Parts: sequence; structure tokens; C-alpha cells
Amino acid sequence: MRKPFIAGNWKMYKTASEARELVQGLRRALTDTKGVEVAVCPPFTALAQVAEELKGTEIKLGAQDLFWEEEGAFTGEVSPVMLKDLGCEYVIIGHSERRQYFGETDEQVNKKVKAALAHGLKPIICVGETLAQRDAGQTESLVREQVEKALAGLERERVPEIVIAYEPIWAIGTGRSSNGTDANQVIGLIRRTIAGMFGTEVAAEVRIQYGGSVKPQNIKEFMAEAEIDGALVGGASLQVDSFAAIVLYQV
Ligand code: PGA
Repeated sequence: MRKPFIAGNWKMYKTASEARELVQGLRRALTDTKGVEVAVCPPFTALAQVAEELKGTEIKLGAQDLFWEEEGAFTGEVSPVMLKDLGCEYVIIGHSERRQYFGETDEQVNKKVKAALAHGLKPIICVGETLAQRDAGQTESLVREQVEKALAGLERERVPEIVIAYEPIWAIGTGRSSNGTDANQVIGLIRRTIAGMFGTEVAAEVRIQYGGSVKPQNIKEFMAEAEIDGALVGGASLQVDSFAAIVLYQV
């Protein structure tokens, strides 16, 4: 049984003090998460404060990126060891904004995934197509390629620890979400791709989220689908009310 997993990607929002306030609100709103695993992924600068506030709660901490080396002369980068030391359990890797604005490649994503796993961090690997790629009928081939390259060379035993987030780029921050049926279809393809690489048993354990304009109003539509195991939430994770309503979607 795959436990549903809702993660908040705060992107480049919230100073450390704003982050503290948001988590205090989430603590009050999410005393019982009803069998749903929950994580928040603040900017690096707020991780320490958020970790402090999350002590004694069920809410997990995640980062939004990492570099694959443990330490060294890599100005501006943050290592898996540093994230682990702060109490991170998850790390988002290969978000479309990193691919688009910072030129991150599938090969770099693969290195980051391996580094995360090597240091006991669970990667949330983002994949998804642009509108032009979707209109050109390339969604399936592109997403399959992104998954294959991200997971290349992983040890089979480690694969169940990873999470994949299917985020169609045209649905991110646009208010235009995909629908349950379409997202379920691509997520099914992702699971079959993992099965092709590591076997059906392993693929059946991997949690695959949908992301892109998830809101309290549409979370049920996605969670009702057989292949969709949760959501990676951007904009709606920045307020207590909307994020808590998404986490408590079953109630
Ligand atoms: P959104 O972002 O919910 O604001 O569309 C999702 C994401 O980029 O992870």
C-alpha cells in the first residue's frame, strides 16, 4: 500500500521569519493528518527555523535542490550532508524551473538523485512536458526519457524510496491544472517505465504525485485516480488554510 504524500514546494517565497509563522499555523491546523504523509520544502535559508518548528510533529522537512558533492569549492551550492544535518528527509530534484531557468540537465538530475540516496535523503524527482511538447504529441516519449535518465544506474533496492512528481509545465502556477484522467494516464506510463527498468514489484511501491495548480477545489479529482499517490503543491502551499485543506482532502 502506497501512503498518500502531499508536499509543499514553497519555491523562493518566505523569509525565515515568515516561514516560522507559516509552520506554526500548519502545526495548529494539522494535528491529525489522517494517514497522509506531509512535507514542506522551504527555501534553504529557512530550513533551520522550519526544522525547529517541526520538532514533535508528523510533518517532514524537504529542500528544493542540492548539489551532488559532499563538500568542496563550489560557491553557492548546498550539499546533501548539509541538508541531512538540518533534518531534511526529502529533496526536490529537477523541478522544471531549475531545468528551464538554470539549465539543469537529465544527467545532472541523475547525479543529484544518486547523491541524495547515498546520503539518506529521499528524492522527489520532477518530470513533465511543456505545452508545445504536449501539442506536438511528445508527452509520453519525453516523460519516459526524463524518468529513464533520472533513474539510470540506481540500485533496485533504493528505488522504492524515491518519489516522482509529474508536473506538466503548462499547469504550473498558471491556474490551469491538468485533469484526473489525463494525469493518471501519464502517471501510469511513468509507473510502467519504472517497471521496465526495475520490475513491477518495485514500480508498485514508488509514489507518484501530480503537481500543477493543485488547490483545495481539485485535489479530490486527482486523488481519486488509481495511479496518483499525492501532490506537489506550489502556490496553494503558501497559506495555512489552502495547504491544510489539500492535506485533509479526504475529510
Ligand atoms: P503550483 O506549482 O502548484 O503553483 O502550480 C507546483 C510546482 O511547481 O511544484
